[in-house]
Amino acid sequence: MTKKHLIWDLPLRIFHWSFALTILGSWYTAENKDDYIGLHIQLGYVALGLLVFRVLWGFIGPKHARFSQFIPSPKKLIAYLKHSDHDKPIVGHNPLGALMVILMIVLITLQAVSGLFINDDVFSSGPYYGSISNELEKVMSFIHHNSFNVMIGAIVLHISAITYYGLVKKQNLVLPMITGNKTDPEIKDSDAIPNSKLLLAVIVAIICAAFVYWLVIINAPVVEEYFY
Ligand code: HEM
Ligand code: HEM
Repeated sequence: MTKKHLIWDLPLRIFHWSFALTILGSWYTAENKDDYIGLHIQLGYVALGLLVFRVLWGFIGPKHARFSQFIPSPKKLIAYLKHSDHDKPIVGHNPLGALMVILMIVLITLQAVSGLFINDDVFSSGPYYGSISNELEKVMSFIHHNSFNVMIGAIVLHISAITYYGLVKKQNLVLPMITGNKTDPEIKDSDAIPNSKLLLAVIVAIICAAFVYWLVIINAPVVEEYFY
C-alpha cells in the first residue's frame, strides 16, 4: 500500500476553499451589485481577513505553507523552466505555481484594499470612502474596476494548470488540496509535516478577525454626508 504523507495543513486547505468561494461570491455580487452590494462589501471583508491570515501563515505555518519554502529564486525558476524533471511529483507548490499563488494574493489584496475607499454612486461605500483626496479615490476606483479582470485571467490559468496536471501528467493535485495527503512513492517521510498547527491557526484566525473588525468598524472614520 502506498504511504500517505501530510503535505497541506488543514488551515491552508480551509483557507484555499473558503478563499475560492469568497472570490466567486465577491465576483457574483459585484456583477449583480444593484441587489447585492451590501453582501459584496461583507464578502470583501472576509477576503481581507483570509488574506491577512494567509500572509501570517506564510511565515509561521507548517513547512509547505511557508513563503520561504516555495517562493523560487530567479535561478530556481529558470532551471525549472529550462529542463528538469517536470514529471516528478512536486511536494509543495512548483516554482511556476508559486508565482501564481503570489500573483493571486497580491491582486486580491489590491482589490479588497481599494474597495475600502470607493463608493457605488448610490448609497453604499467602503468604510474609508471620503477620507482620501479625490485623485487618490479615482486611482482606487480604477484599481477596483480593473484589477479583477487580471484576476479572472489568473483564475483561468490556475484551473487550467491543475486540469493539465491531472489529464496530461496524471498528477491529481486537487485531492491533496482536500485531504492534505499525497501518496506519490517519491515523496520521503521527511517531506511530510508532523501536524497542522491547529491551535496556532485558531489563535491567528481570531487575531485576523479582530484586526479586520478594528479596521472596518472601529477605526473607520465617520464621514459627513451632505444631501442637497
Ligand atoms: C476563485 C477560485 C480560486 C482561487 C482564488 C484559488 C486560489 C488558490 C491559491 C491562493 C492557492 C495557493 C494555496 C496556498 O498556498 O495558500 C491555490 C492552490 C491550489 N488550488 Fe486554487 N483557487 C481557486 C480555485 C480552485 C479550484 C476550482 C480548484 C480545483 C479544481 C483549485 C485547486 C487548487 C490546487 C490543487 C492547489 C494546489 C496547487 C499545488 O499543488 O501547487 N483551486 N489556489
Ligand atoms: C475579494 C474582494 C473583492 C472583489 C473580487 C471585488 C470585485 C468587484 C468588482 C469586479 C466590481 C465592479 C462591478 C461593476 O462595476 O460592475 C466591484 C465593485 C464594487 N466593490 Fe468590490 N470587490 C472586492 C472587495 C470589495 C470591498 C472590500 C469593498 C468595500 C469595502 C468593495 C466595494 C465595492 C463597491 C462599493 C463597488 C461598486 C463600485 C461602483 O459601482 O462603481 N469591494 N467589486
